[in-house]
Amino acid sequence: MFISFEGTEGVGKTTLIRKVYEHLLAQGQQVQLTREPGGTPMAEQIRALLLAVNHEENMADDTELLLMYAARAQHLQQVIVPALAAGKTVLCDRFTDASFAYQCAGRGLSAEKLQLLNANFVSHMPQITFWLDAPTELGMSRARERGALDRFEQEKAVFFEKVRAGYQTLWQQEGARIKRLDACQSPDQVFEQALSYLK
Ligand code: TMP
Repeated sequence: MFISFEGTEGVGKTTLIRKVYEHLLAQGQQVQLTREPGGTPMAEQIRALLLAVNHEENMADDTELLLMYAARAQHLQQVIVPALAAGKTVLCDRFTDASFAYQCAGRGLSAEKLQLLNANFVSHMPQITFWLDAPTELGMSRARERGALDRFEQEKAVFFEKVRAGYQTLWQQEGARIKRLDACQSPDQVFEQALSYLK
């Protein structure tokens, strides 16, 4: 089973993943917990480049997209595919839907570019994706409380509105895979909602 978790900043993804992880472990499952961009030493270096705020030049939107997929290719080959082959459940904090929401809906890149990358470089897709949805202002204030903001978190509210709308589009198109969770609920309620889908 391959499960991904999506949403804009500060919606409680990390808390939910941790709860699902502990629940599956307690059931005796073998679970691989991982994240994107990142999840391997090399992909984590690409992540650092993507999130850094101190670049001397602006990162081109195409560069951002391609770095996401460079990290993803590495992550698939090193972590996701071997874990699935070993019969583990993979819990992944973000996957290709984030590229659609952030790079296409948010930055304005064409969906064709993404489809090209997905068709050529993504061998496995999640069976189920949890989209934690909440008003973007709620999440942004939580992100601000956490401390220094990364290159994405520094974006303005209008960017996150576009990202949220991108997730909404995906959810409407792929309702069989993508499950919307109301992230305004308490962490326990969000977890219960997720569990009801997993059952
Ligand atoms: P995180 O803060 O949830 O760990 O994710 C890091 C940032 O990377 C987050 O702001 C969303 C962004 N991102 C993309 O823009 N495209 C992608 O494909 C992925 C995986 C993440």
